[in-house]
Amino acid sequence: MSQARWKKTPFTRAGLALATALAASVSLTSAHAAGEVEVLHWWTSGGEARAANVLKDLMEAEGYGWQDFAVAGGGGETAMTVLKSRAMSGNPPSAAQIKGPEIQEWGELGLLGTLDDVAEAEGWDQLLPATVADIMRYDGQYVAVPVNVHRVNWLWANPDVLEQAGVEMPTTLDELFVAGEAIREAGFIPLAHGGQAWQDATVFETVLLATGGVEFFQRALVDLDPEALGSEQMVEALETFKRLRGLMDDDMSGRDWNIATSMVINGDAAMQLMGDWAKGEFTAAELTAGEDYLCAAAPGTVDAFTFNIDSLAMFRVEGEAHEAQQALARLVLEPTFQEAFNLAKGSIPARPDLDMSEFDVCARQSLADFQRTADEGGLVPSMAHGMAVRADVQGAIFDVVTNYFNARDMEAEQAAQRMVNAAQAAL
Ligand code: BGC
Repeated sequence: MSQARWKKTPFTRAGLALATALAASVSLTSAHAAGEVEVLHWWTSGGEARAANVLKDLMEAEGYGWQDFAVAGGGGETAMTVLKSRAMSGNPPSAAQIKGPEIQEWGELGLLGTLDDVAEAEGWDQLLPATVADIMRYDGQYVAVPVNVHRVNWLWANPDVLEQAGVEMPTTLDELFVAGEAIREAGFIPLAHGGQAWQDATVFETVLLATGGVEFFQRALVDLDPEALGSEQMVEALETFKRLRGLMDDDMSGRDWNIATSMVINGDAAMQLMGDWAKGEFTAAELTAGEDYLCAAAPGTVDAFTFNIDSLAMFRVEGEAHEAQQALARLVLEPTFQEAFNLAKGSIPARPDLDMSEFDVCARQSLADFQRTADEGGLVPSMAHGMAVRADVQGAIFDVVTNYFNARDMEAEQAAQRMVNAAQAAL
């Protein structure tokens, strides 16, 4: 656009001087005295965007600029591809939504900058649980800041639809299948789902947790133990997962997760197995937890908590951009942001010392369950959400899960063997 204008405008010395003066004044005002941040994220659904805006508003209130670099696509696969190409061209944004072991991968590339000064000034070591703080450090230094803790193993439901079908919220997988039949007979879709690899993997890991338990989840999806990956328990998890297809509708292919949530909100579907970012959609629709919609631990997983911690990792930048980036990191762990963001996002604060009185029953249950499972040993990192294994292994497991889920003629034994091969090849 600017090139087109250059061609049309006569290139005079006076014109050039004017343009230079204008450009100087524009850059002075738009860069603010304090610089700006460019933030890559994939918070683009209704609830997610409301949450992301909290941070934008807080930064702007402190006089910093905010360049939004939102890349749509649940689970963040597209965002990560875009981030890689920006980084490869030597121009990464100052902050990006990067999680779990992937933070280590970016650290190894030497691209992340330290947040240790902010962390020390704000006492992050004292504020954050060790499980959370460890993920944020590369080579002993903070390089990322946690925004929240999401729980993945949730079941969401529309109470009116359950009532019309004459069923209660299922607490075991057997109950889920029985309830599903009644819901179908009453004329509703039992389970809203979107056929995308990351959503398939989200449901799969929850089913595996229910059928195999916490220790098996840890061995198979975190430690990548080939014996566990190829075991009878894996076959059972895969078969049960595929049975769930019977509770889904024929149009699920490619559907976004928030569209699936809206099917529960509208009463077309009864339930959804999804992390608590789904709660952000119910909240955005001004619905009340425990009344207009129900939440419960996914059937068979009441004693487990699959965690998914969103964080913003910081790329090395200089000058005013660095100053703005450090301010961003500070704001993220301040109570104002933690409360407002997480109320909109559906997650719980990353720091456990905050007053939870504004939070709903689902969030309060999430916090209680997080603490209980941390003490009793039921806390596991989500494979589907990049908390358990590196991106290449995760991608290989996604392929097996999704291919098996959609194949007409693949046996569960075959899929389990592919899982063993995928993990070995990627290691
Ligand atoms: C992220 C959430 C996000 C969800 C859906 C997850 O991997 O952690 O913040 O809301 O994907 O896009």
